[in-house]
Amino acid sequence: GAPISNPLIKLHEEVAEFYHRVLLTTEVGVRGLSYANSRQLDKEIIEHFKIGYAPKQDNILYTYLHDKGYEDATLAESGLFVENKDGRLFDRFRDRLMFPLDDENGHIIGFSGRRISEDATQAKYMNSPETKIFTKSKVLFHFAEAKKAARAEQHLILYEGYMDVIAAYKAGIKSGIASMGTSLTDQQIYLLRRITSNIIINYDGDDPGIHAEERAVDMFQRVGGFNLGVVVLPEKLDPDEYVKKYGVAKYQEEVAAALSPTDFFLRRLQQKYNLHNDREKLQYLDEAIKKIATLTNPMEQDIFIKKVSEEQGVSLDSLKASLMREIRRLK
Ligand code: UTP
Ligand code: MN
Ligand code: MN
Ligand code: MN
Ligand code: MN
Repeated sequence: GAPISNPLIKLHEEVAEFYHRVLLTTEVGVRGLSYANSRQLDKEIIEHFKIGYAPKQDNILYTYLHDKGYEDATLAESGLFVENKDGRLFDRFRDRLMFPLDDENGHIIGFSGRRISEDATQAKYMNSPETKIFTKSKVLFHFAEAKKAARAEQHLILYEGYMDVIAAYKAGIKSGIASMGTSLTDQQIYLLRRITSNIIINYDGDDPGIHAEERAVDMFQRVGGFNLGVVVLPEKLDPDEYVKKYGVAKYQEEVAAALSPTDFFLRRLQQKYNLHNDREKLQYLDEAIKKIATLTNPMEQDIFIKKVSEEQGVSLDSLKASLMREIRRLK
């Protein structure tokens, strides 16, 4: 690509290279490498994602960059160091498996470090702070690579985490990206919109993940123009855990069986009510009709009204009458 003119990006590229080398070729890196192996990250994956290791030892990165001639002012601006009260700089990331975060052109602009120690008082992932080149809300992990793959795979798959994107990659799905947590932003949606309208959301199968999927569906629909699929994994598993437990083929089946937003909504609604109780069943039907009435495509309305009719054993005529009443009410 084009030569990198931004000195902060250049610094990040150099740091990624450094952490990567530490992981793969040094004695202090063995600790990182055995953690990576325990997460089933092999050499090919480590190389593709340029994963690295930030050592435990005092100020290795600072010393390395200082000796290369970097000024403290530049280093302070990078976000890779914390300043003590005397103004001295210390490595921000210590004893962490390092995931470089790149922009849409593939230039490294920040890092996220996975805790290796069991010490749960430390954040599981520590991220670069906001800098001149890094705004977390505008970044999607693996976006530069995934957008190339989106052409062939015809969609992008949205995950929560780094390890999920990597698990998908191992399953042959190269169009995975991560919102880096459950708080998807509009800016991230705008990035996706430029690449494809086909988005599959596959957050973790735990409660926070499913709630975040509901929120994500709303956000995508508010922006509009997307064709969405939603994957809900069983047993509260995240995609990485699912692949580990059930294998790649089963995971691909889950993706192929992604629910439409309406199906996803109805499934969630069914879980809210005891459908063996007539009063609750009527409440369910009422909410379902309200949702179906908001669909703008009449064929889609038709599909779901039939589905509800079959699933709940209610006549199509009475559902249609309720739907008509609701549609008139909305006008
Ligand atoms: P999860 O809590 O689901 O972690 O957070 P994970 O991705 O499954 O991590 P592993 O498998 O235990 O290593 C989902 C994502 O949220 C962000 C990260 O991007 C993470 O991958 N996150 C999570 C943070 O930024 N900080 C945290 O402390 C935790
Ligand atoms: Mn010196
Ligand atoms: Mn999660
Ligand atoms: Mn997870
Ligand atoms: Mn996980």
